[in-house]
Amino acid sequence: MEKKEKLWGGRFSESTDSFVEEFTESVSFDKNLAVYDILGSIAHAKMLGEKGIIPKEDAEKIVKGLNQIKEEILQDRFEWKKELEDVHMNIEKALIEKIGSIGGKLHTGRSRNDQVVTAFKLYIKEETQNLINLLTQLKVSLLNKAQETVDIVMPAYTHLQRAQPIRLAHYFLAYLEMFNRDKERFQDSLKRINQLPLGSGAVAGVDFPIDREFVAKELGFNEVMRNSLDATASRDYIIEFLSNCAICMSNLSRISEDLIIWNSTEFGFVELPDKLTTGSSIMPQKKNPDVLELIRGKTGRVYGDLVAVLTIVKGLPTAYNRDLQEDKEPVFDAVKTLTGSIIGMTKIIQGLKPIKEKMEQSAGGFALATDLANYLVRKGIPFREAHHIVGKIVSYLVEKDRELESITLEELKQFSPKFDTDVLNLLSIYNVADARSSFGGTAKERVLEQIEFWKRRLNLS
Ligand code: ARG
Repeated sequence: MEKKEKLWGGRFSESTDSFVEEFTESVSFDKNLAVYDILGSIAHAKMLGEKGIIPKEDAEKIVKGLNQIKEEILQDRFEWKKELEDVHMNIEKALIEKIGSIGGKLHTGRSRNDQVVTAFKLYIKEETQNLINLLTQLKVSLLNKAQETVDIVMPAYTHLQRAQPIRLAHYFLAYLEMFNRDKERFQDSLKRINQLPLGSGAVAGVDFPIDREFVAKELGFNEVMRNSLDATASRDYIIEFLSNCAICMSNLSRISEDLIIWNSTEFGFVELPDKLTTGSSIMPQKKNPDVLELIRGKTGRVYGDLVAVLTIVKGLPTAYNRDLQEDKEPVFDAVKTLTGSIIGMTKIIQGLKPIKEKMEQSAGGFALATDLANYLVRKGIPFREAHHIVGKIVSYLVEKDRELESITLEELKQFSPKFDTDVLNLLSIYNVADARSSFGGTAKERVLEQIEFWKRRLNLS
């Protein structure tokens, strides 16, 4: 059988088993990195020319050839070959076919081990920036919704039991804070992504007089990685990226869960726009919050992506091992999933209609009990005692199947002589919410301050 030509075929006397080709290839998915691989190669070739490691004319031919290949790839005219293993060798082989043996000079002073990390870092850098932009849009949608809902009061739940009344805007601002931290995490990670691995060779550095600063500048990296072993072995930048994705998904999943519950007939707190929901093939009455359910479900995938890469690196001997090829698909999956989930959530927030009456009905009643206890505290009764007195009031009303708002001053006085006419103010959910005027609290003035803060931060004022 004729031996198929591999770029690394020199020392081999028989062709690769087709099973092995199929099992070891990565081009079917790492072709996603093609444009970044070419960017890295162009910077490397220019540097080789500048430093006289290869003739300048050769470097120019290489750059021209690479740019043509990039166009072919972008226009989907490029033929990917699995037998060429990965994106790097597909492109290098195409270059040699295009410009002849000069193309073979590109790989001087470089290894796929530093090449692949460079391309992947360029990709993750761009996707990180995309995610930052999408998170900003989500934040804007939450801020807008908060502005619309300052005057809606709803129950906050602890243990999924009605706890205390809050302004609905307070809820949206809580998620604005969470997604802002998610965005900051992505921003902070750029510092580490912006360190150039190229120029580290296979593991120990390069025996040509290369100029890594030049390459870093060409590619927009702020620093050069200081240790070649670290640069080729480490994948913590990937784990950090996936952790950031996983944390962000956890927040998306949690807000999804709230909205799914609120959208149920039993709660009836919100209505989702028709265009963002789906019907049931069998039950005509249903309008399902599938986007939210899928965000919640897909959170599991992204956690899986993170755990996959953590597990891949855990037992690896230090330096490059082929196992590391498995770092790609989890990242592609996480990028696709998180991108879609943020876009979906932004649409949901924009289209969400709160049902004020339902929320306010539920915000009253026993959710006001803490305030009644605090009232007694202000009148000099120790908190534990006040808590006990209000507990008695609650059980008295529960027995009679009555809401807290229905209680009269006379009845209250039977439980404690400290109750006076001003206690009746407490039976308004607005007053109760506005009493929580500590910094970070749900009082209207505090909520409005936070809205102003975010308008300034998001440059919307
Ligand atoms: N496709 C490989 C990967 O993704 C590229 C690096 C291959 N290096 C090697 N020495 N075989 O990890």
